[in-house]
Amino acid sequence: MKNITHKLFLVLFMLTLTACGKDEQKNETIDVQSSVDQTQILSNLRDDFAGDPERGKRLYLQCRACHSLKKGEPHKIGPNLYNFYGKQAGSQERFNYSSELLDSKILWDYDNLDRWLENPQALIPENKMVYVGMRNPKDREDLIAYLLIETQ
Ligand code: HEC
Repeated sequence: MKNITHKLFLVLFMLTLTACGKDEQKNETIDVQSSVDQTQILSNLRDDFAGDPERGKRLYLQCRACHSLKKGEPHKIGPNLYNFYGKQAGSQERFNYSSELLDSKILWDYDNLDRWLENPQALIPENKMVYVGMRNPKDREDLIAYLLIETQ
């Protein structure tokens, strides 16, 4: 009897170890920038904003081939997005924007960014960002949370 209890304990112990290991792995892959006060950045948005930046990081995989986010990083097919939020469309230096995007004169506030991500061609027809759009509003909210934290 004592032997069985002992074995049971061991099994439980191993299970706990495996579970912890998995958690650790998860934290490693999802390393959303922590040096900025995330709550402060996101609390400036809508009152009911509930974007999840960690989920947004995964959605950003759809953008990563064309955009960089950090200060000083080179443009890719699309412009580097450092500090773009709150600025007029087409403000990143030394990027060759389409005249359609430049002429739009829109401001990257929350609503315009949300509409852009939902369907770029509907917001600015003939712009040159080749992206079909993200139709799920919750996905866009999470992606925006990630974008705003990572580009400040
Ligand atoms: C195939 C490449 C490509 C993909 C994928 C892509 N973009 Fe773009 N993006 C561009 C290009 C090119 C432009 C400039 C468009 C123009 O000048 O008409 C742009 C412009 C932008 C702008 C406006 C920047 C400014 O300075 O005004 C934002 C914001 C943006 N993209 C965000 C995103 C996000 C977020 C995603 C992922 C959901 C994404 N893009 C996916 C290529 C891409």
